[in-house]
Amino acid sequence: MGMTTQEILEFRKKHFLSTSVYYYKNPLHLVRAKGEYVYDVDGKEYLDCIGGIVCISAGHNHPRIKEQILKMLQEDEIQHTSLLYFNSHPVELAQELLKEAPAGIDRVFFTNSGSEANELAFLAARQATGETIVINLRHSYHGGTSAALAQCGHGTWKFRAQPSALNVSAMEPYCYRCPFGKKPESCSLECAKNVETTIQTATHGKIAAFIAEPVMGVGGFISPPKEYFQEVVKIVHRYGGKYISDEVQTGAGRTGESFLFTKALGIEADMVTMAKGLGNGAAIGATLMKTETSDSMAGKLFFNTFGSDPYQTMQAKVTLQIIREEKLIENSKKMGNYLLDGFKNLMKSHALIGDVRGRGLLMGFELVKDRETKEYATSEAVALMEKCREKGVLLGKGGLFGNVIRIAPPLTIDQKNCDRVLKAVDESLIEIKKQSLS
Ligand SMILES: Cc1ncc(COP(=O)(O)O)c(C=O)c1O
Repeated sequence: MGMTTQEILEFRKKHFLSTSVYYYKNPLHLVRAKGEYVYDVDGKEYLDCIGGIVCISAGHNHPRIKEQILKMLQEDEIQHTSLLYFNSHPVELAQELLKEAPAGIDRVFFTNSGSEANELAFLAARQATGETIVINLRHSYHGGTSAALAQCGHGTWKFRAQPSALNVSAMEPYCYRCPFGKKPESCSLECAKNVETTIQTATHGKIAAFIAEPVMGVGGFISPPKEYFQEVVKIVHRYGGKYISDEVQTGAGRTGESFLFTKALGIEADMVTMAKGLGNGAAIGATLMKTETSDSMAGKLFFNTFGSDPYQTMQAKVTLQIIREEKLIENSKKMGNYLLDGFKNLMKSHALIGDVRGRGLLMGFELVKDRETKEYATSEAVALMEKCREKGVLLGKGGLFGNVIRIAPPLTIDQKNCDRVLKAVDESLIEIKKQSLS
């Protein structure tokens, strides 16, 4: 039944886009999933600590979501309407989602992805301000569509064909590798002040927007201190820009602080974008904004055929209910701290781990060949992922040089499974060390 792993590999190599990548030397062919586990074509079970890429919040195939999908199918509920016809699913989701939004944000538009959500945020910011320039951060990732891709701060994601006007990168708030050479004790938030210097030097003095991820996901779970954001919002507003908080990875309770981390930051964001964990695997994104920004678009048309689809919005609504009722935000904080402590403890026996960081269950660690020089241990990160896979634990990776291990399991993970992750990493690092000495 279905294609073999080899057949898939050969087809993908020949016919998928030439940029197509996959994890592992022998690609992993997944066919089933339940809760925190995924199963390959041979029936082997894996503890899923990356959830595709940070998409599984309530757990794979949660019984309540499954039940609702089956009910909709059995009752011949309409599969597709578009916003041209009325349907209650998008409205019910919006009602609940806006309760989680930062103060003043009362409008929402559903998309099919995080890229589209950011695309709309840039459009709205430009329309509302009459300005065009968006400030992003070096090491950031905001999506693969044209305007979103233009705002990515990674050379790997930039194409010669990519228009690069209208975007400027400010310095990254990357404490472990501070671009200003500061240590936490000597830091005066130079990175936040750099947003102002960037506006003053690289723009004509007015901007449309500033966009940042509260934890920089693709960049390697770079987690700036809260004060950074509080300072930057003030600067952005001083220069007339809209503050866009990209919560595609941090949203849906993952940081263990609130459903949207922007709310916990207490900052006056103008827009928040979401996707990934919002739909627990369903293709849905959202752009949340204030009425004043939304009103600036009135009189024009903006449309997305599949955005607000009844099935995707139903899944996101039930996911949100599960996150609340099963207290998954609290669990994310508890298990995130448990893992953080566990990995910090592993630093004592594994010199390869240079830094452990993150918020809630959006956490990871950076591998370095030498703690003094902080040389990127990229091949070691690949080896660690391979070894953990053999032990039945799936990890993710990120960072400009691919040396950051990313851990973002379903928010339902328990202590026993956290111990399993810590054990798999510990044993794998011991094996890597042995191999390097032999
Ligand atoms: C922070 C952030 N923003 C936006 C996106 C784009 O989302 P999507 O791939 O759903 O278009 C991503 C995807 O990884 C992301 O991590």
